[in-house]
Amino acid sequence: MKKVIIVGSSRNNGDTVALANELVQQTNWDLINLNDYKFSYYDYEHKNKDDDYLKLMKRIIQEYDTLIFATPVYWYSMSGIMKVFFDRITDF
Ligand SMILES: Cc1cc2nc3c(=O)[nH]c(=O)nc-3n(C[C@H](O)[C@H](O)[C@H](O)COP(=O)(O)O)c2cc1C
Repeated sequence: MKKVIIVGSSRNNGDTVALANELVQQTNWDLINLNDYKFSYYDYEHKNKDDDYLKLMKRIIQEYDTLIFATPVYWYSMSGIMKVFFDRITDF
C-alpha cells in the first residue's frame, strides 16, 4: 500500500502544485491532480455517476492506504474542486 497526495487547485502552475511536486520529489508518494479528472458537484439524483469520480475513488481505495490532501485557501476554506471531491464521498 502506498501514499498519495491529492491536489485540488484552480491552477496547475501555482503554489499548491509546486509544493506538492516538491513533496513528491522528497518522498515516494504518488500525486493525483484533480484537474486531470472530470467530475461535477454532488447530485442527489446521481445523474453524474458515470463521470470520472467513482472510477478515481475506486483506484484510490484499491491502491493507497494514506491520503494527503493539498488545497490552497480560497475564501477561508478549501478550493472549490476539493470541496466537490469531498462532497462526492456522499455517493458511497
Ligand atoms: C479565489 C481565491 C480566494 C482566496 N482566498 C484566500 C483567503 O481566504 N485567505 C488567504 O489567506 N488567501 C486567500 N487566497 C490566496 C491563496 O490562498 C494563495 O495565493 C495560494 O497560495 C494560491 O494557491 P494556488 O497557486 O494553488 O492557487 C485566495 C486566492 C484565490 C484565487
